[in-house]
Amino acid sequence: MRLTRAEISLSNLKYNYLNIRKKVSKKPILAVVKADAYGHGMINVVAALEKLDDKKPSYYGVALLEEALELRKSKTTKCPILVFAPLKFDEIEDYINNKITPTLTSQYEINKLLKYEFKKKFKVHINIDTGMGRVGIPFQNAANLIAELSKNRMVQISGLYTHFATSDEKDKKFANIQLVRFNNVVNSLKEKKIEIGIIHSANSGAIIDIPESYFDMVRAGISLYGYYPSNETSESIKLKPVMSLISEVATVKTFPKGTPISYGRRYKTKNETNIISAPIGYADGIRRGLTNKMFCIIGNKKYPQVGTVTMDRIMFDIGKSTVKVGEKVIILGKSKNEIITATEWCNILKTIPYEITCGISKRVPRKYI
Ligand SMILES: Cc1ncc(COP(=O)(O)O)c(C=O)c1O
Repeated sequence: MRLTRAEISLSNLKYNYLNIRKKVSKKPILAVVKADAYGHGMINVVAALEKLDDKKPSYYGVALLEEALELRKSKTTKCPILVFAPLKFDEIEDYINNKITPTLTSQYEINKLLKYEFKKKFKVHINIDTGMGRVGIPFQNAANLIAELSKNRMVQISGLYTHFATSDEKDKKFANIQLVRFNNVVNSLKEKKIEIGIIHSANSGAIIDIPESYFDMVRAGISLYGYYPSNETSESIKLKPVMSLISEVATVKTFPKGTPISYGRRYKTKNETNIISAPIGYADGIRRGLTNKMFCIIGNKKYPQVGTVTMDRIMFDIGKSTVKVGEKVIILGKSKNEIITATEWCNILKTIPYEITCGISKRVPRKYI
């Protein structure tokens, strides 16, 4: 059996969630579990959060109808599930039959819904584009369009939201502009006495740093999984990484000085040294850009990775240390005194922790601890 695995700490997940809960006080939380809970395993993550009884999430958020159907069919939760993707009209029955809430994101969708004949009430959330420039109804004309939509009495607007482009940046100027634009849409709909349901906008960056954005619910993604969205947010919520990546010593070899290691001979041993290999590579999500830059922990000691990262295997130079085949190799995670986090990889790869955890491929079994 493959010993390389991603260990998912459900107690760290709960720790992060309860710290987010403390930060937002009594505000309902939508737990973002799209992309298989950012690589952590959607069903297991939801099952763990559901155990939190009266503190548990009020909503779950996914990117795709397929993800929502998987969650609904697992019967793990009875909570509302919100799909962030634009509504496709051939999927309406799936949304209704499975009690899944779609998002309306454009004038096109609104125009089509106005003519649609529903047999049952159709609950929707509406995404307002206040500056994200991705999906959502442009804020300038949103209130009029939504007023128009409310003429179809079978469509029930049960939520109105926006998404921040820069809440994870130190400079909150643009996030505040988005907030003003969103508030204007909300206020003008309230003036028109249009029912808009739950109002929400805060992603992790905003949960951490912009309490004015909480409205009626917050949407927590990366913070649930133990990472700050960037190096620029405050750390007003204490978080612990949920995912560790564990492998094992597969081979131990002693090489003389000057021996090239791996494809392209990008590393040459500096002295006679012991080189170990671990069965994990870029097919598992160890990005090739980490070549000669990352570390591992074996027996509470850190060792440098050497030679090009290959598809299924990476090497570490352990010098004069002796380790045994089968010994535990921590690729991401912590020992008694050492720690390696996805944030370190982000600094090397110029990326964000989302990409690291989502990138740990399906080939790596998840073990829940
Ligand atoms: C609409 C929406 N809300 C909330 C989130 C969660 O964001 P974060 O992971 O930064 O908390 C996402 C993730 O990208 C999203 O697309």
